[in-house]
Amino acid sequence: MQIGTTVGEFIIRQQADFPHATGELSSLLSSIELAAKIVNREINRAGLSHHILGSMGQTNVQGEEQQKLDWYANEQFKLALAARGEVCGLASEEEEDFVAFDPLQGRHSKYVVLIDPLDGSSNIDVNVSVGTLFSIYRRLTPVNTPVQLDDFLQSGRAQVAAGYIIYGSSTMLVYSTGRGVNGFTLDPSLGSFCLSHPQMQIPTQGRIYSINEGNYLKFPAGVKQYLKYCQAIENDEGRPYTARYIGSLVADVHRNLLKGGIYLYPAGSNAPQGKLRLLYECNPLALLIEQAGGLATDGQTPILDLPPQALHQRTPFYAGSRDMVLRLQGLLAEHG
Ligand code: AHG
Ligand code: MN
Ligand code: MN
Ligand code: MN
Repeated sequence: MQIGTTVGEFIIRQQADFPHATGELSSLLSSIELAAKIVNREINRAGLSHHILGSMGQTNVQGEEQQKLDWYANEQFKLALAARGEVCGLASEEEEDFVAFDPLQGRHSKYVVLIDPLDGSSNIDVNVSVGTLFSIYRRLTPVNTPVQLDDFLQSGRAQVAAGYIIYGSSTMLVYSTGRGVNGFTLDPSLGSFCLSHPQMQIPTQGRIYSINEGNYLKFPAGVKQYLKYCQAIENDEGRPYTARYIGSLVADVHRNLLKGGIYLYPAGSNAPQGKLRLLYECNPLALLIEQAGGLATDGQTPILDLPPQALHQRTPFYAGSRDMVLRLQGLLAEHG
């Protein structure tokens, strides 16, 4: 696949490898791409259009202050996904319950989508990278029946596709359909996402650790031990490692995916199960990281094997370069 391939062409070529593919997943991915461009346009000029900056003046179901762009992005993805008919329902970080889409005439919508429409939203007002995360599943209940909660509560292994958009110094779309991870950079002059990072692989060992160390006193003992290891001076092993934490999960994981590193959001930081949401944040990133050769766990169990019980369920999240995650898991097993 040569550089210059647009994401649209890429999706069609991949689909050609599946003789029975109907094109529905391709169409769904195109809806996400379109919504991403609309959200990107708004984020790019957020500093100029102050009506879009700042808080909605209300909290969302997560107990967080909802930003205007959280809401705007949620609406754009919802509209784009509802318009084409491949998706029968959506669950979002910004919505208390899942949203069932009205069936379109003659369409047998067989997919559900889960999204974090704007990740790192507290960073918008200060012009720091933010993202969108998405996760796609085949519904479990029969087509043309009302979509049910169980359709959304599937373990991450069942994802048909997942990805993120990072609105950074460049805007990128990174996704996987379970056959590797590919990254596409938006060429603003063309308005197209072009293949720039084919078959991404995360180094098995890195030198970056990413954690909100302000919560140090509440970390499990194993995490404290791991931080001590990262900070120890062992020149021949390249330690101390480098601390990098943007506070936008997508941006922190994207950097570590490219350079090698580990991202940690432990339990106990500000909630017994940590902060990050299993269905909207951890599952899509875990699929990408595993597909790129890394690991993503809750400290013991692969994220993708966790059985979800509720839409807004949280989980500890440790993800990145394989050898780093394995060492951390060893320390968690030893020290708790
Ligand atoms: P969101 O903006 O979608 O609510 O996600 C916020 C998440 C994630 O983006 C980020 O990495 C993490 O919260 C930061 O949490 P802390 O401020 O507790 O470090
Ligand atoms: Mn939020
Ligand atoms: Mn988020
Ligand atoms: Mn969000």
